[in-house]
Amino acid sequence: MTTPKKLFIKTYGCQMNVYDSERMAEALGGKGYVETQTPDDADMILLNTCHIREKAAEKVYSELGRYKDLKAEKPDLKIGVAGCVAQAEGEEIIRRQPLVDLVVGPQSYHRLPAMEDAVRTGVKALDTDFPDDDKFETLKSRGKAKRGPTAFLTVQEGCDKFCAFCVVPYTRGAEVSRPADRIIREAQELVDAGVREITLLGQNVNAYHGHPQGLAGLIWELDKIDGLARIRFTTSHPNDMDDALIEAHGTCEKLMPYLHLPVQAGSDRILKAMNRKHTAESYIRLIERIRAARPDLLLSGDFIVGFPGETEADFEDTMNLIREVHYGQAYSFKYSTRPGTPAAEKPQLPDDVMNDRLQRLQALLRQQQTETQQSMVGRDVKVLFEKAGREDGQMIGKSEYLHAVYADAPASVLGTVQPVRIAAASPNSLAGKLQAD
Ligand code: SAH
Ligand code: SF4
Ligand code: F3S
Repeated sequence: MTTPKKLFIKTYGCQMNVYDSERMAEALGGKGYVETQTPDDADMILLNTCHIREKAAEKVYSELGRYKDLKAEKPDLKIGVAGCVAQAEGEEIIRRQPLVDLVVGPQSYHRLPAMEDAVRTGVKALDTDFPDDDKFETLKSRGKAKRGPTAFLTVQEGCDKFCAFCVVPYTRGAEVSRPADRIIREAQELVDAGVREITLLGQNVNAYHGHPQGLAGLIWELDKIDGLARIRFTTSHPNDMDDALIEAHGTCEKLMPYLHLPVQAGSDRILKAMNRKHTAESYIRLIERIRAARPDLLLSGDFIVGFPGETEADFEDTMNLIREVHYGQAYSFKYSTRPGTPAAEKPQLPDDVMNDRLQRLQALLRQQQTETQQSMVGRDVKVLFEKAGREDGQMIGKSEYLHAVYADAPASVLGTVQPVRIAAASPNSLAGKLQAD
């Protein structure tokens, strides 16, 4: 019997990369690879990378540098770079870091097995095409192995929005939706393997058009799958929140009351310069409509501070929008210049101004998150238990609002949804007591 080769994958960036890493591991599984948790005993190392901000991209090169000794010790070790840095920089990666054997973009990773054959003969392999063949069809069905209770499922890729700061339209290409029947088949396979909650993924997931009724139509199809308890989706664009999707938040029981709906900024002048194609007012009205459909919805967002040209008054508009909307959770970033994007041409703000604004914005968001967490104390939530905690007898899961929830419970709760009364809140998690069903 041949010993299996070992694959170490390190994943950066968004959930779509998490999904892609799984699929790459499955593709290489067909070539006899099994996953390992450390680079030290790997026969192949794959970095699945993110290009969204400068720091994210630079991390890749410092990580690659660390493999120098490993490769010297083990000449058969192959090192690959996948994901959005691979797409954005292509061959340049091999020029800058000759340790790299293989560069594969996010649209061509179904070709990994063939590329692996090539690198084993000692040549370098590069594929950053946007091929016509559907990578999901080539990869076919998911592994039959038993899985944890939650899974990601990519339904849409790419972006046609071209926000002035963003690399995604360049690294992931044009918006493409997978046909609904194939998604439903994949969802069924996941449920058969033990999955209870599926998060539908897309760079603009609500621009999904692989079903005549869009994302809402797909959600209603998935709602029919017995054994699937929960549906989520991310990330959405405000301009693609159609009436059917808003309504589904009120009427589809499996669709969880959590929505990540980035606005980026609260100043119309800046939103226009960002090419967001919506105003602060239209976003606030949209939130009102979604909350009318689902009053207890937990809202999450993304913010960028220090976009070129942002004045103190513009920044105050963002703070005011946050005060008006009130977020349960949010992500915020300092603007980062990305090569090739329109905003990169504009004069940049000084770093100290950006740092100061980011601190103020994060303090406000933190305060809102703490208030939201505290408001849960005494309330009953439904928790899908995912894993054992560090303390004896403790289990961890997620509420319908995506809070991490700790509770003392038997291991038999794993993979099931149980009522929990919240007794204590901290900024990032809740603790509670299991209730009798
Ligand atoms: N498709 C999603 C998210 C894309 S990237 C959407 O449209 O909302 C995730 C987040 O990274 C963005 O929402 C934005 O807040 C942030 N981001 C993107 N480009 C950035 C840049 N150049 N500098 C700082 N943050 C950025
Ligand atoms: Fe980037 Fe804007 Fe597309 Fe989101 S909508 S991926 S921020 S270009
Ligand atoms: Fe990063 Fe690419 Fe996702 S740039 S955020 S990994 S789409």
